[in-house]
Amino acid sequence: MEFKGLRDDVYRRPLATALDRLGLDEAWRCVDVGAGGGDVAVALAEVVGRQGRIYAVDSDPGSRDVTAEAASTYSQVIALTQAGEDLVLPEQVDLAFCRFLLMHVIDPLVVLARMATVVRPGGWIVAQEPVTSAGRIDGQPFSMPVARHPDIGALLPGLIRQVGLDIVDAWAEAPAGAGPGVVADYVHFLTEVDPGDDAIVLPPLVTVIARVPAGN
Ligand SMILES: C[S@@+](CC[C@H](N)C(=O)[O-])C[C@H]1O[C@@H](n2cnc3c(N)ncnc32)[C@H](O)[C@@H]1O
Repeated sequence: MEFKGLRDDVYRRPLATALDRLGLDEAWRCVDVGAGGGDVAVALAEVVGRQGRIYAVDSDPGSRDVTAEAASTYSQVIALTQAGEDLVLPEQVDLAFCRFLLMHVIDPLVVLARMATVVRPGGWIVAQEPVTSAGRIDGQPFSMPVARHPDIGALLPGLIRQVGLDIVDAWAEAPAGAGPGVVADYVHFLTEVDPGDDAIVLPPLVTVIARVPAGN
């Protein structure tokens, strides 16, 4: 079972909410850090159009090829292999975005601070990270032992302030369901166990929309 592409992604609604509240528009220049399979990069590319530019950055060299394939019809997407800790771009961008990234890095503050360095003064940072243990399957908390910071979403607004960014908006959103459907399929994919008719609340994704101070 595979979840490639935004359409099949159960977290597409939190992403759509974030892009809508942010006011992402044509011709924006953006970076998606920890781009993975390129779902977010493609979603950003659809909004910014050919006048915009999306740098899809990931530390895993395999991601560059996967993203390049996912975004093959979007010439505005440029896939790069870089660690978020070492992020360098050929230009300043309007938006630096990350989703399900900070939960995996050694020091999330280092990556957030680095993201801020590539954004123009007055530009935007959007981070979407989970509170894994707040998710439930049949009433029992989710766990994700492979992640370094599985509950980092709960700390995200504080981290954003610690790196000197101004919070514009912040909220949490979680897909839920029971029985056959994409939410159950997603849990099956994550846990390799079919949840049957169990009630599921996926880990809420905390989104923070922040601005780099003008004149930074
Ligand atoms: C769970 S995936 C999320 C992919 C994508 N952002 C999404 O929401 O679908 C995490 C991605 O972050 C990448 N990653 C992990 N540590 C990283 C780092 N320090 N710098 C850049 N990318 C990193 C991994 O290679 C992986 O592709």
